[in-house]
Amino acid sequence: MTNNNMFFIANWKMYGNTGNIIKSTTVIKLANTKKYKNHKIIYCPPYTLLNAFYKKVKNSNISIGAQNCHANSDFGAFTGSINTKLIKSTGAKYIIIGHSENRNNNDETNLIINKKIKSALSENLKVVFCIGEKLSDKKNKNTYNVLKKQLKIGLKGIKNFNNIIFAYEPVWSIGTGIIPKRTELIRNINNVIKIINKLKKSINPKILYGGSVNPKNAKELAQIKEINGFLVGGASLNAKKFIDIIKKTYN
Ligand code: PGA
Repeated sequence: MTNNNMFFIANWKMYGNTGNIIKSTTVIKLANTKKYKNHKIIYCPPYTLLNAFYKKVKNSNISIGAQNCHANSDFGAFTGSINTKLIKSTGAKYIIIGHSENRNNNDETNLIINKKIKSALSENLKVVFCIGEKLSDKKNKNTYNVLKKQLKIGLKGIKNFNNIIFAYEPVWSIGTGIIPKRTELIRNINNVIKIINKLKKSINPKILYGGSVNPKNAKELAQIKEINGFLVGGASLNAKKFIDIIKKTYN
């Protein structure tokens, strides 16, 4: 089953320039057509491009998001950092928090992630909260416990999950070209839903999948009914590939 109401989030990581923004014109056109207008297409470029990108898309169906923030919500002496107030002022509506590249390379703990999520919500940003197990967790059959810990601590003290979208990204799948087997993916996403529901009854969480999504596997992945969209890294920098991924979600 495919649907016309999915999230397509482009995570440009530390790539991109104004030329890539210009090339996104084709995506903007697609997003404004009747057939695709119910999708949520969100570009998350590096901080330096947020405002330029926002100006480009502000009259379209596309939104802009940041890829991270500093955990301190107030202004302060944090050289080289950007907090959620500054992000909000660029026109961004979304923010990715807890991406494994920050968890693993920048010592971002679950507690720091929790602070960042709270800061983003206090600025009315919509959070794309990333979770996912490493290959060693998978090999040690520890995936469930890892996901539970990430969700439990990351969401601690947060009463309202309405502005949080969850992105399940197995770390071993990011940038590797390897995607989980269908049964494994469905099992892990259902576990994520179960854990979230235990933390907060009566919500219907939106779960995205991320990790090596490309025009070749998008159709198969989109047929998994538990998946509400994709967080796309590498393939999102190329407007044609990104469009292909969006189109593949239709039969
Ligand atoms: P990838 O990245 O699509 O290049 O695997 C996904 C991500 O890091 O969000």
